[in-house]
Amino acid sequence: MRVLLIGSGGREHALAIGLAADPSVDFLAAAPGNPGIAQVAQLRQVTATDPAAVAALAVELAADLVVIGPEAPLVAGVADAVRAKGIACFGPTAAAARLEGSKAFAKEVMAAAGVPTARSYSCDDSAAVDRALADLGAPYVVKDDGLAAGKGVVVTDSLEDARRHAADCGKVVIEEYLSGPEVSLFVVTDGTAAVPLMPAQDFKRLADGDAGPNTGGMGAYAPLSWAPDDLVPRVMRETVEPTLAEMRRRGTPFAGLLYVGLALTPDGPKVIEFNARFGDPETQVVLAMLETPLGGLLQAAATGTLAAHPPLRWREGAAVTVVVASADYPGTPRTGDVITGADVPGVIHAGTARRDDGALVSAGGRVLSVTATGPDLAAARDSAYALVDGVRLDGAQFRTDIALGAVEGRIQA
Ligand code: AMP
Ligand code: GLY
Repeated sequence: MRVLLIGSGGREHALAIGLAADPSVDFLAAAPGNPGIAQVAQLRQVTATDPAAVAALAVELAADLVVIGPEAPLVAGVADAVRAKGIACFGPTAAAARLEGSKAFAKEVMAAAGVPTARSYSCDDSAAVDRALADLGAPYVVKDDGLAAGKGVVVTDSLEDARRHAADCGKVVIEEYLSGPEVSLFVVTDGTAAVPLMPAQDFKRLADGDAGPNTGGMGAYAPLSWAPDDLVPRVMRETVEPTLAEMRRRGTPFAGLLYVGLALTPDGPKVIEFNARFGDPETQVVLAMLETPLGGLLQAAATGTLAAHPPLRWREGAAVTVVVASADYPGTPRTGDVITGADVPGVIHAGTARRDDGALVSAGGRVLSVTATGPDLAAARDSAYALVDGVRLDGAQFRTDIALGAVEGRIQA
């Protein structure tokens, strides 16, 4: 099978490693890719959010399957354009990707499907914002309605900060604060059949101890030894199946990767958000644990044959990834700093570029996603941090407490 992967981040490097390792994948191209992905795939230039350009590239490469990593191309309709050329595509239509592209739409679908989630208001003006903030109280949760690369959400005790963020965003969703540990559950689906992957935990805040601003994600680990045994079947029954049924009922079935972001509240798992693609950096750990060939799984979802796919197989042990970010992330990250020590297995490239002289340099906020597996979580964590120690990047920011609470048994579901 000939596969074209769209995207250029750490998630895409992890997907590329998984696809390249699948014996059924005999040709892999990535566009635009990054220097890490270049080690396992042929790189091509494309504007990832241009549906016609991506579809034309898929035709030129005689691709059998296109895998779309990030949300922006999905929301822009890239999957629709690829499928219109008769090429299988892993990734939802633009209509279905609204589950991520509009928080208000996601809330409407969840309400119609009876999915457990935070009580919320969709607000278009400051009067509605003030009413919602007054009704729900602190801590305030204010979410930009549209795509914001993981930075559209403000959780704050300050009424003033909540009002300011709402004013900056325009259309917002204001919702009840959910307490409890967070879980990311990825579900591969062809619109009807649905296969859950191993739940993972992400670290959204920039600094140790969950301090600092929200980011796209600073690290992750899997599996979650502390999670309740019935977590996955319960979320499939209460959330995933009703949501997929509601999307089919609307005539816009969701096929691809449904990312369910959950808080395990005292009243049970509740949805914090849906995304229409694999999470970054959770994908780096989930795919490190997946033994089943990735290409065949994604192809089954893309061709409506997931019900016939064999059950997934998982490796023993655990995986940890630590994101190394550039100076000033998540503000305006500094780029162009030289990176050394990154050419070793497990160092996944996110925002990197190759300079004309061949040097590897930072080219984005999240630069590397340093990933290791081990026989248990403590061993995987030690190995990941040992790899981080070998990397040099001026001004690098990374958390030192990824997976630490779980290793120390401090997480209570
Ligand atoms: P989102 O982009 O919706 O995942 O939000 C980013 C982060 O903000 C989440 O991972 C949570 O840590 C936090 N967050 C979002 N919504 C809520 C909520 N209703 N209650 C508590 N924290 C939230
Ligand atoms: N790690 C969070 C996300 O991918 O949205």
